[in-house]
Amino acid sequence: MSEASACRHVLVTGASRGIGRAVAEALLERGDRLAVVARDRAALEGLVAGGQHVVLPADLAKDEPRALVDRAADALGGLDALVSCAGIVEYAEVGAITRDALERQLAVNLVAPVLLAQRAARHMQRAGGGSIVLVSSTLATRPVPMTTAYAASKGGLEAATRTLALELGPANVRVNAVAPGVIDTDMVRVVRTRAGEATPTPKDARSRIDAQLAALRALHPRGRLGTPADVAESVLHLLDADYMTGTVVAVDGGLSLGEGKP
Ligand SMILES: NC(=O)c1ccc[n+]([C@@H]2O[C@H](COP(=O)([O-])OP(=O)(O)OC[C@H]3O[C@@H](n4cnc5c(N)ncnc54)[C@H](OP(=O)(O)O)[C@@H]3O)[C@@H](O)[C@H]2O)c1
Repeated sequence: MSEASACRHVLVTGASRGIGRAVAEALLERGDRLAVVARDRAALEGLVAGGQHVVLPADLAKDEPRALVDRAADALGGLDALVSCAGIVEYAEVGAITRDALERQLAVNLVAPVLLAQRAARHMQRAGGGSIVLVSSTLATRPVPMTTAYAASKGGLEAATRTLALELGPANVRVNAVAPGVIDTDMVRVVRTRAGEATPTPKDARSRIDAQLAALRALHPRGRLGTPADVAESVLHLLDADYMTGTVVAVDGGLSLGEGKP
C-alpha cells in the first residue's frame, strides 16, 4: 500500500458489529473511505453516517459477492483494500452436523470471502496493487469440540489465503489473514447446546455464558479475552505491511500456546 497517511478505498464485510465494526471504525478514524457490507442496514448507516461512504446491505450466503465488489469499486472510484470479517458459527457435535448447517457456514465463511477476494484483486490490479485481509480463526488449526463445520470453513480460508497470495503477489496484491482466538463479541455469547438438549431459559443461558467465558478466560496466558479492537489493530497492520503476504497472524492472547502441559 501507499504511504500510511493516504486516504484509501476499503471494502469491509461484517461491519455492522463485532470485529468488522471495530475494523471499520479504525479505518474511519484514519480517514479512509469505506464500502460496508452486512445484513443490518441500519447498523451500517449508523456507522458511516455523514461521510462519503457506501452502504451495501447484503446477505453473503445468498447475494453475489462479485457484484458487491463492483458496486463498491464503482461508488468509491476504485478499491485499494478488502477486509473480509463477516462470519457465522453454528455449534454441533459429530452426529448432529447437518448438510444445511455445513453449507451455510461454508457459504459465508469460505465461498463469499474467496469470491470477494478474487473480484477485489481484479480492481486492485488495475490500480497497480492492493491489500486483502481475511478473518480466519484459531479453530482452523486448534480443534475444539462442536466446531467441525466452522473449523473446516476457516481451514479452507487459510489455505486459500496462501494460494491467493502466491498468485497475486506478482500483481502487487498482498493477501493475509488474522486468526483471532476468543474475542468478546456476540459470536461467543451463545450457549453451546447439544442435540436433543432443551433450550435454556434466558436466565440459565446468561449464567452458562458467564461460566463458559470465565473458563475460556482462564486458558489465556494474557489473562483476558480479546476485544474487537485487539483484532482491528492487527488487521490495520497487515493492510499496510508491504513485505507480508500469505501469512496467518494469530491474535489470541497466547491461547494457541496451550496450557503449558507436556
Ligand atoms: N469472536 C470470536 O471469538 C472470533 C474468533 C475467531 C474468529 N472470529 C471471526 O471473526 C469474524 C467476525 O466475528 P465477530 O466475533 O465479530 O462476530 P459477530 O459479532 O457475530 O459479527 C458477525 C458479522 O458478520 C456479519 N454477517 C454474518 N452473517 C452474514 C451474512 N450472511 N451476510 C452478511 N454479513 C453477515 C454480521 O452482520 P449482520 O448480522 O448485520 O449480517 C456481523 O457484522 C468472523 O469471521 C468470525 O468467524 C471470531
